[in-house]
Amino acid sequence: MKASSMTVAARAARRKKPGPVVQAGDLLAWYDRNRRILPWRATGRAKSDPYRVWLSEIMLQQTTVKTVAPYYARFLQRWPDVEALASAPLNDVLKAWAGLGYYARARNLHACAKAVVERHAGEFPPDQIALRVLPGIGPYTAAAIAAIAFDIPAVPVDGNVERVVSRLFAVEAELPAAKGEFQALAATLATPYRAGDFAQALMDLGSGICTPKKPACVLCPWTDGCAARRRGDAETFPRKTPKVEGRLRKGSAFVAVRADGAVLLRARPMKGLLGGMTEVPTSEWSHDFIERKPAKSAPHFQAAAWRRLRGAVTHVFTHFPLQLAVYRTELPKGTRAPKGTRFVPARELHGEALPNLMRKVIAHALEHASEIKPKRGRN
Ligand code: ADE
Repeated sequence: MKASSMTVAARAARRKKPGPVVQAGDLLAWYDRNRRILPWRATGRAKSDPYRVWLSEIMLQQTTVKTVAPYYARFLQRWPDVEALASAPLNDVLKAWAGLGYYARARNLHACAKAVVERHAGEFPPDQIALRVLPGIGPYTAAAIAAIAFDIPAVPVDGNVERVVSRLFAVEAELPAAKGEFQALAATLATPYRAGDFAQALMDLGSGICTPKKPACVLCPWTDGCAARRRGDAETFPRKTPKVEGRLRKGSAFVAVRADGAVLLRARPMKGLLGGMTEVPTSEWSHDFIERKPAKSAPHFQAAAWRRLRGAVTHVFTHFPLQLAVYRTELPKGTRAPKGTRFVPARELHGEALPNLMRKVIAHALEHASEIKPKRGRN
């Protein structure tokens, strides 16, 4: 039959993809028995606090539940509501965030708290579009807050939910190009009933049952309706376009330790990678970096002997891997910090806004102090 001679209903039926036959109720019943106990989840009939939901969702972007839990508890204790967080100095927030990674999130967290206080009188708006315009809130986080805090039937789609959807519908299109298709398919699962629980049930299903390797299909409440399960190749989904690895960048890091144990630090520029965080001085980081004498980029001290330590520190950022050679020098007590830098006593280092990379560099310098490479550089 030609499409033009079909009824509207027949055309709609032909357009409609063969979808999975799954019921929200089955997932909710499973969730009621198997939900994870998480610090930010309201228990029983208690209502979710939008501030807590938002704080946890920002922390959980790119980070595991296990890593987030202690940070979440510390933040709540120190800043129990959005007004408290909005009036905190940014540097205190960055310090408390240190170690969680993706530091733009901490700056946006602070900016968002201020915006909620200034534009919304301290109340998070119960609306996905209004949430989306706040700093640091993208489509996933807006949907998660809308569903969990306000019971709006939105489906937050992250990597876990994409995996669930790819299997339920046996989607052959590849990620990341097919993100829009995944979003649309996920939206077909939305339910107006217990929307917050439904969103969290999908998250738990993705992280505990519909796992990347060896999914526990026999325990899945949706196993009967799952297209990939019927084909028997659930773990091959989702299809992905192979990633192009970022090119390795290299550089040198300089750890100056004063006789009283203080370490020389400086602040990174507010804009860009690790913006506003604290670091030991480094060279530039580049693909074609050539390790020269440290005089080129080390902080300047009269007669400092910079010694290159064995090995190197490596770190993988989202877009590129980095390898830093580590230099160390010892300086006499009373040495003054050059302009734009400061000495921080060893016992205060843990409270600094040092990203994980810089914690690794300092640990390397302290642990390898006695294993110096023979070549010596002076400046
Ligand atoms: N990942 C992102 N948001 C989450 C949440 N609210 N609960 C568990 N895992 C999550």
